[in-house]
Parts: sequence; structure tokens; C-alpha cells
Amino acid sequence: MILEDEYKQRRDKLFSKLKQNSLSIVFSAEYKVRSNDTEFPYRQNSNFYYLSGFEEDKSCLVFLKKGKKTQTLLFVAKKDKMQELWSGKRLGVQKAKKQFLVDEVYEYSELNTHLKKYMEHVDEIYYDFALDYSKIKLLKRYAKNVSSFQNIALLIQKSRLIKSDGEIALIKKAIEITTQAHHRAIYKAKELEYEYELQAEIEYVFKKNGAYSDAYTSIVASGDNANTLHYIKNDKKLQKKALILIDAGCEYNYYASDITRSIPKSGKFTSAQKELYEMVLAVELKIISMVQPGIKRSKLQKKAVKLLTQGMIDLKILKTSLKKAIKKELYKKYYPHGIGHWMGLDVHDEAPYKTKKGKEIPLQAGMVLTIEPGIYLPKDDKKIPKKYRGIGIRIEDDILVTQKGYENLSASIAKSVQEIESLSCKSMSSL
Ligand code: GLY
Ligand code: MN
Ligand code: MN
Repeated sequence: MILEDEYKQRRDKLFSKLKQNSLSIVFSAEYKVRSNDTEFPYRQNSNFYYLSGFEEDKSCLVFLKKGKKTQTLLFVAKKDKMQELWSGKRLGVQKAKKQFLVDEVYEYSELNTHLKKYMEHVDEIYYDFALDYSKIKLLKRYAKNVSSFQNIALLIQKSRLIKSDGEIALIKKAIEITTQAHHRAIYKAKELEYEYELQAEIEYVFKKNGAYSDAYTSIVASGDNANTLHYIKNDKKLQKKALILIDAGCEYNYYASDITRSIPKSGKFTSAQKELYEMVLAVELKIISMVQPGIKRSKLQKKAVKLLTQGMIDLKILKTSLKKAIKKELYKKYYPHGIGHWMGLDVHDEAPYKTKKGKEIPLQAGMVLTIEPGIYLPKDDKKIPKKYRGIGIRIEDDILVTQKGYENLSASIAKSVQEIESLSCKSMSSL
């Protein structure tokens, strides 16, 4: 759990980065219409949540910095009995005043009046450049004397790079639930017929354990389907001897997990599957072991490319020298993606990878990133040895950078051939 003090500290940190005589605004997410009067499930804007912990729509934070003096205003929707009857209780201004460590709380309907008043006296405005146009128009309407506009999202996202102990605890909880889900999938695969059934087993565990939702749409891809990187249809039959690539992670209290395992439906890897799997696993373990403060993600990617390419050569998937395969990027056909990404409030946490000047940001203690090498060998690629065609493998773990090196937060999820095979045979009651 993140306490109010921590949200306040985050806001204070943001203030320290803002220019004097500035007004900054961070809006909540809005409901998105699915059709007519039906909406998609609501999910708070991560940057707004990071600064407030507030879950309601129709709210925003305004930061005023006048000289060195700072003031934080929170706008929340007003309490309205009729509306609450349909959409649930609102916190309202009075309770918000007690709960949040901000200077003032107002009704959201008063926002325009306040903006108009403050904007006459500020030189800079910070807002999220990804805002929808109607809000931008509103901000610019009042901003006659403003000399420059800055993107507040970048500043917040930068803070989100280093996780606090409270955040790490929530990520660990998300991973704990996801661990159970993957273990259930390994066990259940042999008795199920369709990819979506396995997806249901996984997402049952998420919900059953209090996870708000998945952190991204689950991928359950049998055989050649695993060679479509963003396969989310999950509507095909599980083939008896095929591997199933499962990329699924829950979101717990707004924090993501992102885990991939590639498992045999039958409970036993064929020898060809095992050869490929152990090659990818060795790469994954090596790259994880390199994680430490100071190292750059591009170095991890370079090493992963080298090792995977060598693996492809050893298994006769590529028939050329390592030097040539790397120079001509021949590996890209079978390993087209990056080695990993930041993770936190979002599965692909929106934190920058480079400084303003374009320099890559090295890893630091407190960052969380995924490591996820893979190999994707389409069924119809005649250049690949026949036994490997139609196999796609990815292995993905969530790694915390620590002072001394790293902690693999998902280390308890079965991963070696032997662990996966023996879990598949276990009786359900022991899971
Ligand atoms: N699940 C999305 C990813 O692995 O990046
Ligand atoms: Mn990932
Ligand atoms: Mn993933």
C-alpha cells in the first residue's frame, strides 16, 4: 500500500523540477464509450494515479509555483445522489479535503474559473501533450501571457523510473498472483482443448486473487500462432504436441506484472522443442545475470543478439558466420524485438530510455525491467530445419535492479524443462 505521505513526496519532487511562475495540470482518465451508454472498464491515468492515488474520473491536480511558493489544488467531482445511484459513490470535496495532503480541494465544475484566474499570472504551463484536443484548447484559451508550454508527462514518467519500497511490494504481489496463474496453466494445459480455455484458467486466478484485471491482453498461442508476436485472438485449438506460448500478467493495485512461459501441451517437450528452449533459456539466464547498476539496456540487447544468433547458427537455423549474421541482421527474422522494457504502473512503463540530450539512461537501483529473449520460427519458412518449423518460444521475467546487481522478482515461476515437466504431472491439490 502506498501511503498519503508518499504521494505528497512525489508531488514535492515534481514541484522541485517545475519552473517558477508556472501552472501545471494533470488530469484523471475519462470513461471511454463502448457504444451508446455503455463504457469500457475504467482505468485511471497512470501519471495522475502516481501523484494522487485517486481512482475517480472527472478530477485533476493543479500545481502552482509562484516564486518559490508552491500550492497544490485537487479538483474532484461533486457528490450527486442521482448519479451515485447509477455509478457508485463519489468521495466529494469534504472527504477529499480530509484524505489528501493537498492545499485546496474544489469541485471539478469550478476548474475553468480557477484556471482563468491563475493563468493570467503564469509564464509557463505544463500539461500532458497527449491530452485530447478539447482539453488542450481549454488550456490555451486562458493562456494569453504564457511564454512556453512544457510536457508534464515526461517529468512524471522520469520519476516513475525508480520504484519505492511500496511500489516494489505491489509489483511483487502482482507477480505472486501471476505465478499461481502460470502454474495453473502448466498443470491444466494437458486437459484443455482451446487456447481461450487456458486463458480463462489464467484470468480466473487473477480475479480470484483480487487483481483488478490483466496488465495487458493475455497471449495464449499454440504452435505456429506463437510466431505472431501480438497474437491475442486465443481462439485456436491447442495442438497435442505443440508448445504453447503464454504471455500473461495481472495488474494488482495498479501495478503490472509481465511474464512469458513456453510450455508443452502434453507435459513433455519433444527433443526439437527442448533444443530450442534450452538455447533461449541459457540466453535469458545470461542476460539476467548481467543486470546491475550502470549497465545499459542496449548492451543487454547486443549480448542477447549475439547469443541468440550463435544459437541459431549452432542449431543450423542460420547457415552463415556470426559476424555476417549480425552485420546483415539476419537474426532479426527470428528475433525481431528488444530484450525488455521498463515495467511499473504500466506494463510498458512510460519512462524515458534516453536523457533529453539523447543519451541512453543506464540501469539504476530501483528500476524494474523485463528480460524477454525469444525465437520465432514460422511453419512456412523452408530455410529452417523442418523439426523446428512452427515453434515460437519466449521466456520473460521481471527484474529489479538492486545496489549489488539484481533480484529476479519472478524467480519462483517454473522455468527449466525439468521444473515445467514435473509441475505438469503434479496433482492439482499440491498447486
Ligand atoms: N506482454 C507484452 C510484452 O511482453 O512486452
Ligand atoms: Mn514484456
Ligand atoms: Mn510479456
